[in-house]
Amino acid sequence: MHKKMQKNYTNKNFWRSKTVLITGINGFIGGNLAKYFLSLDAKVLGISNSEVKNRFLIYENISRKIKLSKVDLKCFKEISTYVNKNKIDVCIHLAAQVDVNLAKRDPFETFESNIRGTYNLLESLRKKGTVKSIIVASSDKAYGEYPLSELPYKEHYDLKPKFPYDVSKACGDMIAKSFSSSLFNLPIIITRFANIYGPGQLNFTALIPDCILSIYKYRKFIPRGDGTNKRDFLYVKDVCYLYTCLSYNLYKNKKLSGEVFNAGTTHGYSVDDIIRELCKQTSNKELYAEIKKKYRNKKLTGEIKHQFMNYDKLKKYFGWKPTYSIKDGLSETISWYDKFLKKYSHKEFLK
Ligand SMILES: NC(=O)c1ccc[n+]([C@@H]2O[C@H](COP(=O)([O-])OP(=O)(O)OC[C@H]3O[C@@H](n4cnc5c(N)ncnc54)[C@H](O)[C@@H]3O)[C@@H](O)[C@H]2O)c1
Repeated sequence: MHKKMQKNYTNKNFWRSKTVLITGINGFIGGNLAKYFLSLDAKVLGISNSEVKNRFLIYENISRKIKLSKVDLKCFKEISTYVNKNKIDVCIHLAAQVDVNLAKRDPFETFESNIRGTYNLLESLRKKGTVKSIIVASSDKAYGEYPLSELPYKEHYDLKPKFPYDVSKACGDMIAKSFSSSLFNLPIIITRFANIYGPGQLNFTALIPDCILSIYKYRKFIPRGDGTNKRDFLYVKDVCYLYTCLSYNLYKNKKLSGEVFNAGTTHGYSVDDIIRELCKQTSNKELYAEIKKKYRNKKLTGEIKHQFMNYDKLKKYFGWKPTYSIKDGLSETISWYDKFLKKYSHKEFLK
């Protein structure tokens, strides 16, 4: 049963008649996913708390093909009015305050957007009652910290987060689980994915874009820790295939509702591994030596030390596995930034 489910998820005949709502379409994953759904001929709607279409949507020539509306998920009236007005077949909920440093400084805003924002959206969809497939983006961070000996993380692990962003994602995750229960029967799949990277990540505080800016000598790279903490990295195109696969399968089979899926590569790459690979691919030995010196005496606080994810469940259900190696993903990412930063000044993206 499971392998068969995977077969048709890129079928344009299916997607042509569907309207997909992407919350957080103005963000990194939302923009890439909008591009992918458009390539399948779906009608794409998006909401964001900013009405200005971001540079990725403009650069990729998709800004005119999507309908972006300014809706703040923190406001129930705004989101419920929007949901009532629009035909929605599939909803991918990505909108969140994702800046981990901001969450450490100002947890209130993060809790408001990520927790209240999630129940405001799901309650609006519940009241509407016609949406057939909802994917809620939780995160690997929702699990909190586990000893290295118990990694990679599996879906049955308890959620025991401590830090504000991590707690906000775990709350959204549990709220989604509750809406999918037999009390409400909303068709929801919850995803707990590893770190995602690739074209369009315009939050230059994230490791890979930050390091790329230093490679172009636009700013000095300041490591947040000593480079030893490990993360799992998924290329954004693999994530787009996965969201499409999950939303298609849930649409076809309501029994998948309430399921949780991890995704990653099962490999933990240290921050140093990533920086070394980026410097190697851009022949930048000097920068690498400079960054290595800065690791000394740096201590990462308020963040999980090591995380990497098991994806056996996705493989079993849908035959899914990541198609990009870190080397190929980084190479495609560098080429994209190379062209993008020729067109737009990096200054625009620095806060
Ligand atoms: N990027 C990653 O490495 C990663 C990994 C695992 C899970 N996730 C999850 O995937 C989702 C998308 O991440 P991203 O990297 O694209 O983030 P992003 O910051 O690039 O995009 C988030 C979007 O949400 C919007 N938003 C924030 N608060 C809002 C609000 N109150 N109302 C309406 N819109 C609001 C922002 O305007 C932005 O468009 C998030 O839920 C995140 O937790 C991301």
